[in-house]
Amino acid sequence: MIEISHLSKEFGHFAAVRDLTFNVAPGEVLGFLGPNGAGKTTTMRMITGFIAPSSGSVSIYGHDIQADPIGAKRRLGYLPEGAPAYGDMTPARFLAFVADIRGLRGGQKKQRIEAMVSELELQSVWHRPIETLSKGFKRRVGLAQALIHDPQVLVLDEPTDGLDPNQKQQVRELIRRIAADKIILVSTHILEEVSAVCSRAMIIAAGRLVADGSPAQLQAQSRNHGAVVLQLPVQEGLQQQLAAIPGVGEVEADAAQPGRFRLIPETGKDILLAVSAHISGAGWQIAELRQEEGRLDDVFRALTSRAGEDLH
Ligand SMILES: Nc1ncnc2c1ncn2[C@@H]1O[C@H](COP(=O)(O)OP(=O)(O)O)[C@@H](O)[C@H]1O
Ligand SMILES: [Mg+2]
Repeated sequence: MIEISHLSKEFGHFAAVRDLTFNVAPGEVLGFLGPNGAGKTTTMRMITGFIAPSSGSVSIYGHDIQADPIGAKRRLGYLPEGAPAYGDMTPARFLAFVADIRGLRGGQKKQRIEAMVSELELQSVWHRPIETLSKGFKRRVGLAQALIHDPQVLVLDEPTDGLDPNQKQQVRELIRRIAADKIILVSTHILEEVSAVCSRAMIIAAGRLVADGSPAQLQAQSRNHGAVVLQLPVQEGLQQQLAAIPGVGEVEADAAQPGRFRLIPETGKDILLAVSAHISGAGWQIAELRQEEGRLDDVFRALTSRAGEDLH
């Protein structure tokens, strides 16, 4: 597994990453979620040995990235932000070059390169300079470079950023396909991506870890988790009656649609039964009644804005 302990990075007086401690186990796809400038890229650069931490340590399957960089890097594949490559090389030359650096030789080198061509569908651009390729193909070349030595740990910095919706979908499918026995760290600022590909999500804001859990657990922290939305025939005093139902914390009236309300439960309460009972007791005809799962973006906004306030 990978073990990250008290990892910090300062640039001059500016603390970009503050005291991150966490472990990741095989099979986990861990999403690093955070607004721009949160410290995701800096953290990934330290995990992959691209820059040295100011303090703290990173261990990749028992190999310390500082004390034993080669041992650690053998097990790592890294797609840096923006998928940099040598633009004047073709994918054929670039991947042969990376395979050589990774120590692949002979039949094994040939077999791994062929696997990348088919896995990432690079056939049609195989002999074209990388700088002439579309963004989607450049990204696939970057992924091939990260995967060529079949690493146990894959670190992908915003792998879908700037791609069109179909290309985003392809990259997400690839991540899901290869996830089984690997450790994958993927950074993103797209919330839907976390539910789509990650088994675990960490929210980072202003260099600090502010949440860590499954996407469903994070969603459960939303103030809208368990909220009940309903549409009632318009009549006097509805809002007061709804607010009096046991367990209901807040009642939000929809300004655009009279008779439509969102009932926010008090923390930890399930209000669906009490609301249904009240409706049948009152004899109301309801046009709609549903319970919400909660929204990841509520949690994200609440946590990341709170962490930002700490700075002032
Ligand atoms: N080499 C550097 N020198 C000075 N500041 C840096 C450097 N690299 C990153 N930073 C700053 O550290 C903060 C975190 O950046 P980064 O890790 O790139 O965030 P993210 O990837 O979450 O957008 C930002 O405020 C950024 O400007
Ligand atoms: Mg970044």
